[in-house]
Amino acid sequence: MSESNVSRALFDEVMVPTYAPAKMIPVKGAGSRVWDQEGREYIDFAGGIAVNCLGHCHPAMVDAVKAQADKLWHLSNVFTNEPALRLAKQLTEATFADKVFFANSGAEANEAALKLVRRYAVENFGEEKDQIISFKQGFHGRTFFTVTVGGQTTYSDGFGPKPGAIEHSPYNDLAALEALFSDRTCAVMMEPLQGEGGIISADPEFAKGVRALCDKFNALLVFDEVQTGVGRTGELYAYMGLGVTPDVLTTAKALGGGFPIAAMLTTDKLAPSLKVGTHGSTYGGNPMACAVGEAVLSLVNTPEVLAGVKQREQWFRDALNQINEKHQVFAEIRGQGLLVGAALNEKYAGRARDFLMAAVEEGTMMLVAGPNVLRFTPSLIIPEADVKEGLARFERAVAKIVTA
Ligand SMILES: Cc1ncc(COP(=O)(O)O)c(C=O)c1O
Repeated sequence: MSESNVSRALFDEVMVPTYAPAKMIPVKGAGSRVWDQEGREYIDFAGGIAVNCLGHCHPAMVDAVKAQADKLWHLSNVFTNEPALRLAKQLTEATFADKVFFANSGAEANEAALKLVRRYAVENFGEEKDQIISFKQGFHGRTFFTVTVGGQTTYSDGFGPKPGAIEHSPYNDLAALEALFSDRTCAVMMEPLQGEGGIISADPEFAKGVRALCDKFNALLVFDEVQTGVGRTGELYAYMGLGVTPDVLTTAKALGGGFPIAAMLTTDKLAPSLKVGTHGSTYGGNPMACAVGEAVLSLVNTPEVLAGVKQREQWFRDALNQINEKHQVFAEIRGQGLLVGAALNEKYAGRARDFLMAAVEEGTMMLVAGPNVLRFTPSLIIPEADVKEGLARFERAVAKIVTA
């Protein structure tokens, strides 16, 4: 099939209709810019949903792929490999964790985390310690276990009987959480900043309270840092800014900067519960993916890049506040680092997707987080000129909606 025959119409012909992609088809990216089939250029504030932390085709990532592509592509976990061991060492040196399990996606890393906490509880306390508590509006992936632990029933309903012993509590409400806790509680899974649920930061006192409840009831704390991890909030992992250390942490998205890889991190105390044969993945720890992960982590985990994230957050906040002074569309600008949310005010409630589509028309790619929140998750090293230009285009989109 020639390239010219590849059109958006082909999507509807050959793809399962789980997605409703934009009309244009991007074909090329460099840094924070993307070009479509027609050669039209876009500023990318979406970053592949908080994935492309170093933008598109970063030379260090391209070099890592090319170098590994000439050496070794895949082995399966019947053998280990050098990039996986080096990346695991990097991750354990940079975090609280002693042990790493590699997977391919956020959902898979969370699936591993959930299986680990259940297994640990069964082994150490007995079958009845099975309750997993998570939070309303939380998002943990689309496997049946993770989507059920997630706090939006619209994603988990309609597929038959769900995995059991899962309870949901309101986010940032310690009293409600405490009321659910008992000796039956096996673990709490939470995002330190809810992403898909609308860019809601955990109150540090709440996070500390969750940790204390877990300790009191011999329950484990799992932080899902699939979206917040690898520099997104201006810390390498958001837990570092909260001052609360989990027992298990999951990381994906930005870890590969655009190459599929995920990891579940945990401690020497818990890891033995996933002994040989209890869990696994054909591709998890694939040398290609881990070689890219090494390059990404080495570049992101530097004081310059992490401080740069906080500086860029300020550029976004200042510009979005200015746009709001002019057009009065937002109730609040929130989030941390380059996980910025602009919550629409009552007048524009439910219209986030209209803003997103208008922005694409003007040449800025961005995201929503639910029907009321616009989400900005650009490259962590996006140049100032691209931030300014992308937000100028976004303002034109806002003006069009406001005057329509
Ligand atoms: C916090 C969080 N957890 C898990 C996931 C699922 O990750 P994946 O789509 O890679 O399975 C996402 C994806 O948006 C997420 O934001």
